[in-house]
Order: sequence, then C-alpha cells, then structure tokens
Amino acid sequence: MPVRFFLLFLPLVLCAPTVDITVRVWYREARLCNHNVFIRGDLCGLSWDVGTILTHKGNDNWESTLHCTASDAGKTISMKVLVDDSQWQVGTNDQFIVPTRSGGVAELYPWFFTSKGSYELMDGGEVFSPQLNNTRPVVVYTPPSYLENPHKPLRHLLVMHDGQNLFNDSTSFIGEAWRVQEAADELITGGQTDEFLIVGPYNTADRMNEYTYSYDPKYQVGGKGDLYLQFVRETLLPLVQKRYRLTADATLGMMGSSLGGLISCYEGWRPTQEHPFSRLGCISSTFDWNSEDFLNVVMPRAGAPKPAPLTYLDSGDVGDDLDDRDQTIRVRDAMTKKYHLGDTTQYYLDHGAAHNERYWGKRVWRPLLMFYQPTPRVF
Ligand SMILES: *[C@@H]1O[C@H](CO)[C@@H](O)[C@H](O)[C@H]1NC(C)=O
Ligand SMILES: *[C@@H]1O[C@H](CO)[C@@H](O)[C@H](O)[C@H]1NC(C)=O
Repeated sequence: MPVRFFLLFLPLVLCAPTVDITVRVWYREARLCNHNVFIRGDLCGLSWDVGTILTHKGNDNWESTLHCTASDAGKTISMKVLVDDSQWQVGTNDQFIVPTRSGGVAELYPWFFTSKGSYELMDGGEVFSPQLNNTRPVVVYTPPSYLENPHKPLRHLLVMHDGQNLFNDSTSFIGEAWRVQEAADELITGGQTDEFLIVGPYNTADRMNEYTYSYDPKYQVGGKGDLYLQFVRETLLPLVQKRYRLTADATLGMMGSSLGGLISCYEGWRPTQEHPFSRLGCISSTFDWNSEDFLNVVMPRAGAPKPAPLTYLDSGDVGDDLDDRDQTIRVRDAMTKKYHLGDTTQYYLDHGAAHNERYWGKRVWRPLLMFYQPTPRVF
C-alpha cells in the first residue's frame, strides 16, 4: 500500500519549485587561513546540529546556495556562521524572510572572538557647530564586531546627549557614568539585540539653552533647541556617516536624560512633516519645562508623528524624579490616549530611583532592548 501511495506523490515532489538563495559570508580571509567556514540554521536544508560548508570565493567572502521549498516562502530563516563548524558567531541569529523567487543574496557579517565594544572621541577632538558657533567633543561607541569584521555596516545609529556622562567615569558630571557600553555589550553578545553605533555629543556650558526649545521665564534661559537639533541632523550625522560604516538606510534613534530626555522627545514632535528619528528614548525627562509646554503646546501643535516612532519614557520617584514621574505620566497618557500611540510607546517607573547617571545606566538596557530587537531582513 505505501508503495502506490508513494508513487502517486513522487512527481509532485519532483516538480515542486525551489527557491534558491545565495548566502554570502563576509569576513577577513587573513584571519581564517587554513580554516573552513560553515553555516547552520533552521530552514532551506540547513540544520542546527551539523553545518553546511561554504565555498571560499576569495576577496574575504564565502558562499553557498540554499535550496528552499516553495512552502518555505514567507517564513523566517535563522542562520549562524561557524569557523570549522565549531566556533560560533557571536550575537543574534541572522534572520531573513524566505522570498518567493530565486536570486536573493543574504549577506552575513559574522564575528567570533570579540565580546566588548569600545569608545573613542570622534576625530580625536572637537566638532564645530556652525548653527551654534561653538565646538564640543563627540564620543562614539562602536559595538563588538566593529574592529574584528571591517566589512560589516551597522544598521542602527543612536544619538545620546550629554556624551561625557555616558561611558567614562572620569569625564562624567558626578564622577560616575551611565556605562552604556556595559549594557550594550551584554545585549549584543547575548543575542538579544542587533548591533548599534552610539554617538554622544558632549554638552556645553550652554546646555540649558541647547537642550530646550523654548524660553522658560522661571529659569530665564532656553530656546536654542532647534539649532542644536539642526546641528545634530545636518552637521553631526553626515560626519558620522562619513567616518563610520553604516548602511545607507540605518535607523536613527535619539536618547537622553533630564533636559536631554526633553529634547529627544521634542525631536519627534517638532512642527515638521519630516521625522527622521524612529526611536526616541526620554529618560527622567524635564517635562515641566516652561509650564509643561511640551504637553500643552508642542504636542497639540505637531499632532501625532507619522510614522509613529518607538518611544520609551521613564522616570524614578525619588528626589527630583518625583515631579518628573507625574509629568512623564501625563505625557505618556497623552501619547497613548489622545494620540493613540499605545502600540509604540512604553513607560517604565523605576521605583526607588533618583535623578542621576547611576540609575539611568542601570536601566538603559530597557530602551536599547525595545529599540534594537532583531528583526528579519528581506532580500
Ligand atoms: C563665534 O564665536 C567666536 C568666539 O568663539 C566669536 O569670535 C565670533 O564673533 C562668533 N561668530 C558669530 C557669528 O557670532
Ligand atoms: C576616560 O577619560 C579619561 C580622562 O579624560 C581618559 O584619560 C581615558 O583615556 C578615558 N578612557 C577611555 C577608555 O577612553
């Protein structure tokens, strides 16, 4: 009985169209002489238990053709690269949506030996702002793969304000930095997020002016925020895109704390149709600026940004953060109820947390995890 059954279906199996995709791995040939490159995965003939060897093509790349069945189309294929089928690539799986037609190339940029990123001052010194007529250092964090695999373009760029407080205790305002690099390294090597570049322009003596978009009569200062954001978008970003390896369509994010949180949310709600930043992290934000005019004036004037950015809001509830908590919750409520951005907005209350770098650093993994979840690529 099984024989007849088999014969009946055999022609169907033979004629089932396949979708061929090329997997191309980029890595430094010189580091792998006398070693072989393998791939493992979960679809299209791959397995997690034993690797498929790739053909060395020279010029730092290795290739193989995968044969997917028509029924794989639309599914997500996950893959990892191995050296000698034993040393696994670090970080998240590479994921792609299997296409319906042959011909796609999945470009993979693995790394194997580095678990920490590093940071440096961009161009070793100061960056001039023609908008503000001043200069400031800009610190840049490159993720673990960056030096090991010089072919890999990064797909995400995150601007974080108060650059001197982010990484290095000895340059930090309170002598204690957020240590964002530790949270980033852990999320990346643990495979929980994609890699991202962090660009941290230092604040200047004019911080209260530069991080605010309006004049606050209470503090008798404020209002250069639009110029500062113009500096970030029009001067800093092009410089970064020239200096660092990023994909042409790398996502843009912005994050900061206190007034840095205020200006980050403001970037998404400026009165303009263009919102290049798709991820906004507003940490312990000073939403009471100018009688809460972010809530009362800025948001109603702009209306909900389209497309909706991923927005992360938080606060503690100790000291200055007690006020920030209530103001932030009012902003959160407006975003979710009035502007219907509930699907893309997250608020976290850090019980017992005060308004400083130590607490911001302890919870910065939350917005990073929200913003840089690995998502499958399409061909
Ligand atoms: C820019 O700043 C410099 C000093 O830092 C000053 O000499 C110059 O006049 C300023 N230019 C403008 C246009 O304000
Ligand atoms: C941290 O800052 C200090 C003081 O500016 C500097 O000497 C040191 O090199 C910095 N560390 C790193 C890893 O950049």
